[in-house]
Amino acid sequence: MPAHTVSHDYVKKYLSAIAKMKNLSLSDQRNFYQQANVHCVYCDEGYSQSGFPDKKLDVHNSWLFFPWHRWLLYFFERICKNLLDDDTFTLPFWQWDDSSGMQIPPMFNDSKFSLCDCLRNPKHLPPKVVDLAYNYKGTDSGIDPKTQIQYNCCTMYTQMITHSSTAPLFFGQPLLGGGDPDPGAGSIETEPHNNVHDWVGDPSQPNNEDMGVLYAAGRDPIFYAHHANVDRMWYIYDNVLKRKNIKDPDWLNSSFIFFNEAARPVRVTVKDSTNLAKLGYTYPDLPLSWLDCKP
Ligand code: C2O
Repeated sequence: MPAHTVSHDYVKKYLSAIAKMKNLSLSDQRNFYQQANVHCVYCDEGYSQSGFPDKKLDVHNSWLFFPWHRWLLYFFERICKNLLDDDTFTLPFWQWDDSSGMQIPPMFNDSKFSLCDCLRNPKHLPPKVVDLAYNYKGTDSGIDPKTQIQYNCCTMYTQMITHSSTAPLFFGQPLLGGGDPDPGAGSIETEPHNNVHDWVGDPSQPNNEDMGVLYAAGRDPIFYAHHANVDRMWYIYDNVLKRKNIKDPDWLNSSFIFFNEAARPVRVTVKDSTNLAKLGYTYPDLPLSWLDCKP
């Protein structure tokens, strides 16, 4: 459900899930900070690929971006459900593609909820309208909110329609075992995914922490809501735009290891991430105003 529309009771529940995750021992893989580290392990080329000691691993800027982050959200949500003992709980998404959702959602900005002990750009707190094409130079475009919303709408059209006419354009370029990381990002990963990270992060920190740098991004709970909306773009690509997924077995058979809600490592494949019904969640079909925003 869109993060800016959730009820007070929902926020309380989400808060309690995050608090429980933070209270787990730091060595527990379900601990909130361990989840951020799981993201870090697969990012930034911190580790080598298995069997290829001189080749670094990074799921970003490649066709592994969408499926890997879908799995991350899947397990994060299952850990929340488990700790809450509530199977009906689902993660919220930050609906930055709609004018109603183009600010940091209130649930992530309310100091009495203390959902955030994270670092963010103080100039970008509500009511500031997000700039989906934000260029991280520490400067803002300075355009008025109404025009910014129109620009965002055009950005969405361009990235989802114009720049996503083929599967490789949308998903990103192949990353194969033994290949160099960074073969090339897909349309949505490039923009607005990266821009929203940079826009939320605090430019007075050495690396634009938290959201503006991969190793720290997962320490800000808004990271999961941001990625849920990125994941929703894949849902829209499949179910509304009816475009094609990649058929290449190298993509379908790629696999990752995550920790499940019992803190046990499990191996999952890209193939199994492509069917949302099988994963047991879906997205509501909301109006997409950017479909009318051809620049
Ligand atoms: Cu793993 Cu938004 O990056």
